[in-house]
Amino acid sequence: MTVLTTPAPTASAAVAQARSAAIEAEIARDPGRFRVLTGDRPTGALHLGHLLATLDNRVRLQDAGVDVVLVVADYQVITDRDDTGDLPAVVREVVLDYLAAGIDPARTTVFTHSAVPALNQLLLPFLSLVSVAELERNPTVKAEAVDAERRQGRGMSGLLFTYPVHQAADILFCHGNLVPVGLDQLPHLETTRTVARRFNQRYAAARPYFPEPEALLTPSLTVLGDDGAKMSKSRGNALELRASEDETVAFFRRARTDSERHIAFDPEGRPEVANLLRIGAHFAGTTPEDLAASVADAGAGRLKAVVTEAVVEGLRPLRERRRALAADAPAVVRDVLARGNARANAVADRTLADVRDLMGTVYS
Ligand code: TRP
Repeated sequence: MTVLTTPAPTASAAVAQARSAAIEAEIARDPGRFRVLTGDRPTGALHLGHLLATLDNRVRLQDAGVDVVLVVADYQVITDRDDTGDLPAVVREVVLDYLAAGIDPARTTVFTHSAVPALNQLLLPFLSLVSVAELERNPTVKAEAVDAERRQGRGMSGLLFTYPVHQAADILFCHGNLVPVGLDQLPHLETTRTVARRFNQRYAAARPYFPEPEALLTPSLTVLGDDGAKMSKSRGNALELRASEDETVAFFRRARTDSERHIAFDPEGRPEVANLLRIGAHFAGTTPEDLAASVADAGAGRLKAVVTEAVVEGLRPLRERRRALAADAPAVVRDVLARGNARANAVADRTLADVRDLMGTVYS
């Protein structure tokens, strides 16, 4: 497994990074100005990659006083597959992972796409605001379509093609103004900004109705799985947060390293070793460089032992919370979603009513 660095910054990435730093300062000053919308496709229980790349950051924002809204994007599961698996069971696992990681349902809204009809209805006017040519240029959709073709031999579905616009509905239904993203997600946010801008121009010229949400660039850590590729549920190379201690030990035993004995932090040249160093450093509260120096000539075996220990200890509180919650899982999760869906529906109903008003489609 490995943690890769972000791609070489382009001009627009540099601008986004500078803006994100300014937003962080603003969050520290006035967190109540921000509503963050983000979420996950419920295709499996969450893993170490989710925790390091997104989940910890969401909890940080929540605890800083930002209004966080999390969509469990069940309609996104059917963008690229026919078999959704046992959705109620998967959604339950994802919600348990959120709670165990520190998401507090009293402060953070957790809802599912399919339970919020007014959100989904926004997709229709929003689709009218973008062209097919624009949708075709989205590099992430292209990459996902290639992946769906390779994995399941199926062509791109209409829902996959249009899901960036659906994400615009996810973000705008609640007037989200901040979206934590990795660099590869910037094109999606551009779609949302375009939809918001064009809606305002066309229907709310006098007083803009939707915010143009901004990206909060996350210090993007790509955690690698035990096969050296990016950790992902669908590759079967992930360490799930809910895994046992024994499974964690076995995972790191399988993890790839390289044939050089001396351990050093070299993300470009030695991605697998760098990945272990980043994960270990994260949980041990040190830097990859210092961790590398402490292992040095003791080699990959020692490195794995140190990282395994740090992860097992670091995840212990999360796993204990998760086990306690899981004992009451159906009821706990039902309550969280009932509350979150009710909140999301109230907000979405209001937004759709405003949108119909602005579009002149209220007839009685
Ligand atoms: N596509 C995201 C994922 O799989 C989940 C998601 C759905 C999302 N809607 C969103 C993220 C809107 C950000 C904004 O991880």
